[in-house]
Amino acid sequence: MKANPTSAFLFAANREFIRNPDVDYPFRQESNFYYLSGFSEAESFLVLAPASKPGANYRTILFVRRRDPEKEMWEGERYGVDGALHVFGADEAYPIDELERKLPELLKPAEKVHYRLGHDERMDRTVLAALETCRRSQGRTGKSLSAVADPNETVGEMRLFKSADEIELLRKACSISADAHVAAMKEVRPGMNEYEVEALVDYTFRRKGCQRVGYGSIVAGGKNSTCLHYRANNEVLRDGELLLIDAGGEYDYYTADITRTFPVGRQFSKPQAALYDLVLKAQLEVLKLAKPGTPYASMHQRAIEVLADGMLSLGLLKGKAEDVIRSGAFRRFYPHGTGHFLGMDVHDVGLYQKNGEPRQLEAGMVFTVEPGFYVQPGDAEAPAEYRNIGIRIEDDILVTANGFENLTAGVPKERSEIEALRASG
Ligand code: GLY
Ligand code: MN
Ligand code: MN
Repeated sequence: MKANPTSAFLFAANREFIRNPDVDYPFRQESNFYYLSGFSEAESFLVLAPASKPGANYRTILFVRRRDPEKEMWEGERYGVDGALHVFGADEAYPIDELERKLPELLKPAEKVHYRLGHDERMDRTVLAALETCRRSQGRTGKSLSAVADPNETVGEMRLFKSADEIELLRKACSISADAHVAAMKEVRPGMNEYEVEALVDYTFRRKGCQRVGYGSIVAGGKNSTCLHYRANNEVLRDGELLLIDAGGEYDYYTADITRTFPVGRQFSKPQAALYDLVLKAQLEVLKLAKPGTPYASMHQRAIEVLADGMLSLGLLKGKAEDVIRSGAFRRFYPHGTGHFLGMDVHDVGLYQKNGEPRQLEAGMVFTVEPGFYVQPGDAEAPAEYRNIGIRIEDDILVTANGFENLTAGVPKERSEIEALRASG
């Protein structure tokens, strides 16, 4: 609001969705809404309205569900208008059923509205109707409310740089998630089903205070590890195969995102070890770049260089490294990016390029580093010993003033450490 004193910002709460009769999908508040309000109830709406006269402050207005003893008996307590004012510190608060009537009035002093159009059609209609009402009075007020902007231009930039409090929550999410991965590394045995391991991982998240997963846990044994977002998690784990677990718990709306790959038995086979060491080398090389001033995109470039070299020296590709990179041939084994920003959303807000320029790392950013290597089951040209192997190693990295802090260092990733843990479990 300081940077946009004549703008109004509008944020709708997430909707509740019905899964089947009398059962809702688990509700989670929309991230921007929670970031700005701390308010986690559905059917709410947040307005940051410009000051109505020069020199005054902007106003925070929350629309919330009315208190309702009958409904609260069934579904739990609500904060109501009083709570919005006295617990959440809104300057003004109203019942949500007054949104349509009140919104035009609140938008009157605004010259620009920041609202995410296209996400929720019903809410779009309410907001567009309010804009139209404001425009009709333009002739009299002389103000023109003509522009609708994406709120993420501002809020995304704020969320990209984590405050000390946010970093504490991320540390907590990461340390709990690290415990969950270590538990899996100790307890997995041949003959277990992927869903048993998913249950163990998710149980550890919940037991230690995470409210939910940050994304559906991926527990992928054998050939399933070559499916990047495998979600079925329902096959039996076999000795001799690898298990890839990509899972992160969400703690007070901040999520971890960790991947480890380890043997279902005790040890990596020779071909598994060769690919594993290559992916680890790529990850460690990328981490050397994790410091302020590094162009974000150069980390992916570095991962590709290391992995492409490996593809050639292992005989999986032929030719020169620069050609393999220029032609994109490396994508056969490494089809995804090397990471993403991390925060309230697993694929967090924030621009990787700004004004056409590649973005540089700055202190307070958090991102993942997750190179991988996948040889698809149907890749008939790849040597059979490498087929069905999928490996990813993913850590969560906070950029500090001089370098980085690995928030997920609690899970081993050196092959010898993993094998020691597998033997001790
Ligand atoms: N778990 C999704 C990702 O690693 O991006
Ligand atoms: Mn990730
Ligand atoms: Mn992941």
